[in-house]
Amino acid sequence: MPTTDLAPYFDAHADRARAELFDFLRIPSVSARSEHDGDTRRAAEWTRAALERAGLSAEVHETAGHPIVLGEWRTAGEGRPTLLVYGHYDVQPAEPLELWDSPAFEPTVRDGRIYARGSVDDKGQLFLHVKALEAHLAANGTLPVNVIVLAEGEEEVGSEHLAEFIEANTTRLACDAVVISDSAMFAPGIPSILSSLRGMAYFQIDVQGPSGDLHSGSYGGAVVNPAMALARILATFHDDRGRVAIPGFYDAVRAWPDAVRAQMRGLPFDEEHFRAEVGAPALGGEGGYSVLERLWTRPTCEVNGLLSGYTGEGAKTVLPAKAMAKVSCRLVPDQEPAEIERLMRAHVERVTPAGVTAAVRHLHGGRPWRADLAGPLFDAARRALAAEFGREPVVTGEGGSIPVVGDFERILGAPVLLVGFGLPGENAHAPNEWLSVENFEKGMRAMARLYAEYGEAVSPGRGG
Ligand code: BES
Ligand code: MN
Ligand code: MN
Repeated sequence: MPTTDLAPYFDAHADRARAELFDFLRIPSVSARSEHDGDTRRAAEWTRAALERAGLSAEVHETAGHPIVLGEWRTAGEGRPTLLVYGHYDVQPAEPLELWDSPAFEPTVRDGRIYARGSVDDKGQLFLHVKALEAHLAANGTLPVNVIVLAEGEEEVGSEHLAEFIEANTTRLACDAVVISDSAMFAPGIPSILSSLRGMAYFQIDVQGPSGDLHSGSYGGAVVNPAMALARILATFHDDRGRVAIPGFYDAVRAWPDAVRAQMRGLPFDEEHFRAEVGAPALGGEGGYSVLERLWTRPTCEVNGLLSGYTGEGAKTVLPAKAMAKVSCRLVPDQEPAEIERLMRAHVERVTPAGVTAAVRHLHGGRPWRADLAGPLFDAARRALAAEFGREPVVTGEGGSIPVVGDFERILGAPVLLVGFGLPGENAHAPNEWLSVENFEKGMRAMARLYAEYGEAVSPGRGG
């Protein structure tokens, strides 16, 4: 059965789609904060109810952490493929609240943008799939593919319990392919398919010196200062050319395919514009690589947070007893988080100055991922995006991480397609996060087309 044109349905129900998204965005489902555990659960229940309204059956599954929502619709008929749609309903903390121009959990439209924590990452992008499914079911009474929707509530804290859930439910989650919208387009009006994600190894380093804070006059100079010791440890992480200097760090790094690099060089990217956008006086990083190569194809080691001593108003002469740093490494194929953890521990042990101890804790990790960019799902995505946006999609890379992507391929053996509708400057994880209203609209429509294109392409006797 040919799918009818869904545009009239989307046109007629655009206001309701936006109102529902706003309800979703009002729930402060901050997975990192236990005081929001009730809200995070409420977002899971909300997602389940939204899937049911769309016409799927849906359940909330408990984990040792935040719940997983599973929606299913499996009556597409003989020979139809099964698509798994993944997204996350948890969000990053909204702090610093005073930097938001409108409240983080009170969605507000300004200049064609929906401002709210989670608007683009990832509630808006998860929800546009739900609405695309709803459109098919409401307008046609059926879907061109069998569908599993898996929404988790721990992506922003490392997806700790998701792999075990997938391992324990391989039969139920068996699928032909996975689709994820949790990334950005290369530029406005340019639909984009993602070819890679970096992985992650996240550490906390605690340096301990004396058993308590000391008067810096009575003791300074004779007792090793933990803040200085930590600074010295951190300073060993890079050499003068911006390369990570942890021995063995690059051993597993695999060269990037020439075709992908060529495609990357062909993207219209202005490094000065990028510099101005981030507001830094100059850009930096590993020598010998362009900005896009640094972001998408090279591993990093970054300090994410530092804590030690007196940071209040005025001066306090104190020799702090301890110092702490949060450090994360972004990984590229084939770096393994567990191996990077081993290298990091050995390195910190080697470079820790006498007079203090340093403890390294691994908080979470995820493998890097590189796409195949071939096969019927990829072709269907090209056609769907071209039809909706009026131009061919570009293939981009990404510096961020989605820990479960590698697990889907490894455990379910299914290829993953990443097609996102965010935009540069969207302020994900920062104050004033936004999602373009136009991309929300087009995203729904493009994903509805994707389901149809994919269903037609791989069903026997339907032109596959
Ligand atoms: N949606 C992002 C991943 C992402 C970031 C995709 C930028 C495309 C562009 C995701 O929600 C995220 O923030 N992931 C974390 C993972 C971490 C907590 C393991 C990240 O990249 O920091
Ligand atoms: Mn996300
Ligand atoms: Mn995120």
